[in-house]
Amino acid sequence: MKPEDIFKKNIKTIRKLLLSFVLVFLMLIGGLFFFIRNETTKNTTIEAIESSDYVEISKEDDFDKIENGIHVATGFVEGDGLMLVVQNCTSCHSAKLVTQNRMSKEKWLATIRWMQESQNLWDLGVNEAPILDYLSTYYAPNQIGRRANLTDIDWYELK
Ligand code: HEC
Repeated sequence: MKPEDIFKKNIKTIRKLLLSFVLVFLMLIGGLFFFIRNETTKNTTIEAIESSDYVEISKEDDFDKIENGIHVATGFVEGDGLMLVVQNCTSCHSAKLVTQNRMSKEKWLATIRWMQESQNLWDLGVNEAPILDYLSTYYAPNQIGRRANLTDIDWYELK
């Protein structure tokens, strides 16, 4: 072989070596990237599961929560029989449908009977009396037809 040819061969070998280095390097980088991505997705799924657990727990906590005399989850006024009403009166329709109404005990009973006859409301059994008491106490008709007279006012004299 001529020295020239040997030189050329060497250059070729070096080139091949370099190329394989670059290839291995790229594969390592690729692998690392993949690994990191996997780890982060794993972590985020764990976080997601943990946070959804957290939400569920706090939801259960919140379910009994009363703030300023209002049952937060439904908007019902706090009082005897509240939980019976929450359990029996919010599974078919929103609590709003109840709370926006004001009726006497007889009217509430009639509404319940109407739902039992036509809307598949179940027999409330022994809970009917406390439920009616609750409704007719906290959602009684407003009896004040006009606002009460203002007191504490400095009326001025017309001249
Ligand atoms: C089995 C399902 C069911 C349950 C449980 C239920 N309701 Fe109803 N209720 C209905 C349906 C259906 C309507 C009609 C809804 C509509 O018109 O959109 C209704 C309507 C009402 C209305 C409106 C009536 C009107 O004249 O507009 C009130 C008030 C009411 N429900 C109160 C209650 C109370 C109080 C309870 C608990 C004792 C209760 N509901 C439980 C099904 C139910």
